[in-house]
Amino acid sequence: MPRVDDATAQFVAWVRGAAPYIHAFRGRTFVVGFGGEVAAGERAQSLAYDCNLLAALGIRLVLVHGARPQIDAELARRGLESRFHHGLRVTDAEALECVKSAMAVTRFEVEALLSQGLPNTPMAGSYMRVTGGNFITARPVGVMEGVDYQYTGAVRKIIADEINADLDQQNVVLITPLGVSPAGEIFNLAMEEVAEAVAVALKAEKLIYLCDAPGLLDEAGLLIESVTADEAQRKLDTGEGLTEDLHFFLPSAIRAVRKGVARCHLIDRDLDGGLLLEFFTHAGVGTVVSRDPLFRLREASVDDVAALVSLISPMEADGTLVRRGRELLEQEIERFTVVEHDGVLVGCAALYPFSEENAAELACLAVMPEYRRAGLGDQLLRRIERRARLQRLERLFVLTTRTAHWFRERGFSEIGPEALPRQKRELYNLQRRSKVFVKTL
Ligand SMILES: CC(C)(COP(=O)(O)OP(=O)(O)OC[C@H]1O[C@@H](n2cnc3c(N)ncnc32)[C@H](O)[C@@H]1OP(=O)(O)O)[C@@H](O)C(=O)NCCC(=O)NCCS
Repeated sequence: MPRVDDATAQFVAWVRGAAPYIHAFRGRTFVVGFGGEVAAGERAQSLAYDCNLLAALGIRLVLVHGARPQIDAELARRGLESRFHHGLRVTDAEALECVKSAMAVTRFEVEALLSQGLPNTPMAGSYMRVTGGNFITARPVGVMEGVDYQYTGAVRKIIADEINADLDQQNVVLITPLGVSPAGEIFNLAMEEVAEAVAVALKAEKLIYLCDAPGLLDEAGLLIESVTADEAQRKLDTGEGLTEDLHFFLPSAIRAVRKGVARCHLIDRDLDGGLLLEFFTHAGVGTVVSRDPLFRLREASVDDVAALVSLISPMEADGTLVRRGRELLEQEIERFTVVEHDGVLVGCAALYPFSEENAAELACLAVMPEYRRAGLGDQLLRRIERRARLQRLERLFVLTTRTAHWFRERGFSEIGPEALPRQKRELYNLQRRSKVFVKTL
């Protein structure tokens, strides 16, 4: 067999490792919000490369850019002062002129980055159609605590159908945070609010904010990989350790997941390849905010067959699991319970009842190697036991060649194949020499 060096082998493993995520995210909508610092910063170029790749992998991509530093610079150039109240810009008529021109320039710069195609770059030979439009209607924020915000606005409505129509055409939609009132007045909007409203209106799979921190940190300064909205709210209430960006982005993230966006990711804007690492590696690099805990146990449906095949086939190939054809999986899919992590199927188990003998077999218990030792195997087993009890079955047995100890430690004891239910006994594969374990429910 030809040999490859370690780096090549690692590369191949990495690309294969990304496959489940590529399958899971194709056709899903991601909304990425980033401030003007990113648009003007040194990472802008590589961010454009990564957005290009996400779009090429079939992700429906909406980008929302900010322009705060560009607006500040424009105000300064015209000898005007930046005015903020509670972190929100007060936009008078003169400031609005600066907002319009800074936003327009920033938008064109982002479009230019997304339109590169030089040879020897990741975007060589690609053409990414970037579109925009009058997708946002706005209303004035009005007067708060005696401060009139004038042309600072809030989102009134997102025309989601039009954005979706653009995404259906494989366009990348770039949104500038300006909105128009029915009276035709232009309002300056906060980038994070627009990104949140767009993600909610599109029922996006993911809302991503590129921010001035690696994500949320715990008291020891370590990255918190995932939080529920309630936990994030408690963190926000204490306000401890939150950077300027997180003060703005975290409330939006919490609201978005509570209103139906599946996940919100907070990723370091300075990390090269942050988007790719977050979405195509098991560990990720930022903080994920979700309404419910990230792992979800549920019964399988026929839509899971392809993902189940890729989960179990390596374990079938090395003999850990009995080989099942795709057709059999399709027929027996309702016997399966699966566990998914952030929408990717990472574990499964099946229950085969033998009602005459008040018994059932637990089969095809498997957890993706990267997700092992996190208690998922235990959770799957408990769920299968519960399903068996609901069917008033009294004994759960399992056939295994390599996982005897795992079952023993979970209350199973070894019996001979002759104690199996009749039907199963007849099918018992002597060559496999599986051990038989049973547990009384
Ligand atoms: C068995 C399996 C499902 C466990 O999944 P998991 O999510 O890692 O399970 P849990 O996190 O609940 O339990 C992990 C514990 O089991 C132990 N364990 C894992 N495989 C084991 C085995 N073959 N024998 C004994 N113990 C084992 C781990 O060491 C760990 O214990 P520790 O943290 O004290 O070291 C997983 O290892 C797997 O998919 N294996 C390949 C398929 C298989 O063998 N299926 C059973 C045949 S029906």
